[in-house]
Amino acid sequence: MTFNDTFLKACLKQEVDHVPVWYMRQAGRYQAEYREIRKKHTLLDICKIPELCAEVTTLPVQQLGVDAAILFSDIMVPLGPMGVKYDIIEKRGPVLETPYRTAADIASLRPIQPEEDLSYVLETIRILARELKVPLIGFTGAPFTLASYMVEGGPSRNYIRTKQLMYCHPEEWTQLMEKLGDMVVTYLKAQVEAGAKAVQIFDSWVGALTADDYVKYVYPTMKRIFEELKDLQAPKIYFGGVSSGELLPLFKELDTEVIGLDWRVPISEGRRRIGDRFAVQGNLDPTLLLAPWPILEQKAKDIIDQGIEKPGFVFNLGHGIFPEVPGDMLKRLTDFVHEYSQSVLKNR
Ligand code: CP3
Repeated sequence: MTFNDTFLKACLKQEVDHVPVWYMRQAGRYQAEYREIRKKHTLLDICKIPELCAEVTTLPVQQLGVDAAILFSDIMVPLGPMGVKYDIIEKRGPVLETPYRTAADIASLRPIQPEEDLSYVLETIRILARELKVPLIGFTGAPFTLASYMVEGGPSRNYIRTKQLMYCHPEEWTQLMEKLGDMVVTYLKAQVEAGAKAVQIFDSWVGALTADDYVKYVYPTMKRIFEELKDLQAPKIYFGGVSSGELLPLFKELDTEVIGLDWRVPISEGRRRIGDRFAVQGNLDPTLLLAPWPILEQKAKDIIDQGIEKPGFVFNLGHGIFPEVPGDMLKRLTDFVHEYSQSVLKNR
């Protein structure tokens, strides 16, 4: 089997013969095999055993026939070596022993040294780079989204403590953003050096901010991250996360190749907001995977039709797969994206 580079071509807005597709959380609890593995290992154990982690990463590629693999890990993993003590609790998410709220807390955060601190991640990537026939996507959380867990101490609805730090202690906030920004740059460079062919920065919760606050409190760090990653030999995807539609025009100045959209903004409208410089990725509402096939098919078709209006489109969900999703629906959707897009593109 030859290497399938369709996903990379789409990220770079090159010509493709079908629309590439992968899914956020394509490895996870909707898979019986994953649930079996999780009976014996915690999520963080899996991340630390390279052979097993590579197997979990590869499973959805084999089962679904997606055009890219995403490294199995969690956005919290690189925070460990910075000094953050956390756990990941089932059905809840990341939880910290003690939240980071004071100048001293933030000053205590250490820079990461991936070859020493995160060697298991890099080893997993090396295995996958040798074995996969599709590109491997490396990833990290973005500073705001990581900070939200660190400051709240766990998942949050209103990000009250996070915004409080931002508004009341802007210097400490900036320190925190900058330290996380340094981690993002160092970590992604190490992942690409180990063999990741693309990277995604997850800013899942930044849509909680107004555009003004994004500009003031988040944008400077994001701008710097992308500047420092300018020479990275891999396309970069910035996923602005849930409800980030109002922020899209601000992403225009970021030096990234691909912008991920959630399901609230149609693909064409998303392109209108960010301009034609970027490839776009998205954006089926993951809940539609629980709908009857004709409804799912119609929505997927609509997204593909808009996606292929211009070069540079990667099919994905607007957010991660839920554990309730039936695997055969995902397989059917993947086949549909491939077949339908291929037939449209061929007849152009
Ligand atoms: O297949 C993949 O997408 C790769 C693996 C991956 C995981 N987490 C594994 C995981 C990725 C890319 C992430 C990123 C991540 N982690 C994000 C950004 C993406 C997003 O969804 O917005 C965030 C916000 C987190 C934090 C986190 N970790 C949450 C909110 C949860 C869910 C809690 C739950 O139980 O529902 C986790 C746990 C987690 N990370 C699971 C998986 C597969 C859940 C399954 C398990 O506990 O085994």
